[in-house]
Amino acid sequence: MPTPHISAAEGDIAEAVLLPGDPMRAEFIAETFLEDAREVTAVRNMLGFTGTYKDLAVTVMGTGMGVPSASIYITELIRFYGARRLVRVGSCGGISSNVAMRDIILAIGANTDSGVNRARYRGWDFAATADYGLLSATAAAAQAAGLSVHVGNVHTSDSFYNPEPEALATWQRMHVLAVEMEVAGLYGIAAEEGVRALAVLTVSDHLVTQEETTSQERERTFGEMVTLALEGLLTDAS
Ligand code: HPA
Repeated sequence: MPTPHISAAEGDIAEAVLLPGDPMRAEFIAETFLEDAREVTAVRNMLGFTGTYKDLAVTVMGTGMGVPSASIYITELIRFYGARRLVRVGSCGGISSNVAMRDIILAIGANTDSGVNRARYRGWDFAATADYGLLSATAAAAQAAGLSVHVGNVHTSDSFYNPEPEALATWQRMHVLAVEMEVAGLYGIAAEEGVRALAVLTVSDHLVTQEETTSQERERTFGEMVTLALEGLLTDAS
């Protein structure tokens, strides 16, 4: 049952879905971490694959950048294909001085300058939060792997090049850990649709120190993050 933006057939999408922003990352995850992975959708080159991780059926699909793009794919995966556990695996810009390059963040909640959750919630301030079961299972999986992670709030921005000069100071004052561009949309849709969501992020650049990771470093940390997200899904299912 293809949708406007996903060409997968009925039954092609698993209930557990990993969501990187970059479709090439989706392909990399499928090839590197899943068994028997096959491409299930490629509309606009937004690639999606389904395979297994330790016998758990998992789909991995790109979302593109920003809340509007991600919201299209996330909504269709849930409404038309039965996705029930959705985990964003992506990068973020560090804000807090407690957060270092390549650290992993589990996003409890996402503040945002996007209007999507206000539109969903009649102009009131909606608390866009992770599913507690997925969050606690993934935190437990991190501990079991000896991996230290940060658990806290992020900011989902509609602008990568933010025109607001006070943005950084505001995020710091409110002890926001990092900035990225999709999580508030994911959590808002999950709440509306009654499904479960989490974001696992790695710090790819730092807004205070101005550091940036090399692509080689990003690949290594990216692997740790993906393994953690998959182990979290397994722990949650057990
Ligand atoms: N801003 C917004 N999104 C991001 C950033 C950033 O600095 N780094 C990675 N995703």
